[in-house]
Amino acid sequence: MNENGPYYAIVTGASQGLGRAIAEELARRGHNLFLVSLPGTGLPELSASLSGRHNILARFLETDLMRREAPAELLGYVRTNGIEVDVLVNNVGIGHGGAIGEYSDAAIEESIFLNMRCTTLMTNTFAGEMGRNGRAYILNIGSFGGFMPVPYKSIYSATKSYIYNFSLAVREELRGSGVSVSVAMPGGIITNGKVRERVNKLGPLGRINALEPDVAARYLVALMFRGRSVIIPGWTNKVAYYVGCAMPFRLLMVLTRKIFRGVN
Ligand SMILES: NC(=O)c1ccc[n+]([C@@H]2O[C@H](COP(=O)([O-])OP(=O)(O)OC[C@H]3O[C@@H](n4cnc5c(N)ncnc54)[C@H](OP(=O)(O)O)[C@@H]3O)[C@@H](O)[C@H]2O)c1
Repeated sequence: MNENGPYYAIVTGASQGLGRAIAEELARRGHNLFLVSLPGTGLPELSASLSGRHNILARFLETDLMRREAPAELLGYVRTNGIEVDVLVNNVGIGHGGAIGEYSDAAIEESIFLNMRCTTLMTNTFAGEMGRNGRAYILNIGSFGGFMPVPYKSIYSATKSYIYNFSLAVREELRGSGVSVSVAMPGGIITNGKVRERVNKLGPLGRINALEPDVAARYLVALMFRGRSVIIPGWTNKVAYYVGCAMPFRLLMVLTRKIFRGVN
C-alpha cells in the first residue's frame, strides 16, 4: 500500500463471487476498500463487516454499472470525498452462453456493456487519476475463454478477448507512469450455483480446473501487486493454456465445440 494517505481499492461487482473474494483478500492485506455493486445486494453490511474484521476503511456505492454514466459518477464521488484510488479491480462481468440465434437482446447487451464497455470506461476514467502519488494497480478480469474463440460462448469469449488485448495495450501505454495493468484469465471459479452446474457438466476436466473464489482471489491479488501482466490462476489451467497453444487450431475448435455444446 502507498504510505502517503488514505488510499482505496475500487472493486466492481463486489457483492458476491470473485469480486467479493478479491475485496476480502485486499482487506486482509490492510487495504481500504471502495465497493461498487447493484443496489440491494448487501453492500452496507459487507462494508461494515470487512471494515470491522480487518480494521480498514470501507466505503461503498450502490449503482447499476450497465449505465454508461456510472464510471463518471463514480469519479465525481471519489473527487468530492477526497478519495485517492491506488487499486482498480474491474471485476464486474456476466457469462451468458448459448447457440447464436438464441441469445436474447438483453443477454447480448449485458455481455457487451458489463464485460467490455464498463471495464473500458472505468479504465479510461480512472487511469489518469491513479499513480500520481505512488505505485497504482489496475486488474481487469478476463477469462480463460478469452484466449480463443469458444463455440456456444461466442459472445462471452469475444468480450474477454477484448479485455485481454485492451489490458495489455493499456499496460504498454502506462509503462513508466506508476500504474501497472494486469489481466486475469481464470478458468472456472465456483462463485455461484450456476457456475457449479456448468463445471459439473464439463466433467472431470472442468472439475479439476475449477477453483474456489478465495483461492483464485489470493493468487490474483498477489500477482497484481507483483505487476504480472497476464495472470492464470491454477496450475492445471496453465498446463491447459500451453496445450491449447501447441494444438492445431482446427482441432482446438472441434474439441471446444464438443466440450461446450449444451453447457451454459
Ligand atoms: N465464475 C467463473 O467461473 C469465472 C471464470 C472466469 C472469469 N470470470 C469473471 O469473473 C468476474 C466475476 O464473475 P463471478 O462468477 O464472480 O460473477 P457473479 O457471481 O455473478 O458476481 C458478479 C458481481 O457483479 C455484480 N453485478 C452484476 N451486474 C451488475 C450491474 N449491472 N451493476 C453493478 N454490479 C453488478 C453482481 O451483483 P449481484 O449481487 O446483484 O449479482 C455481483 O456482485 C466476471 O467478469 C466473470 O466474467 C468468472
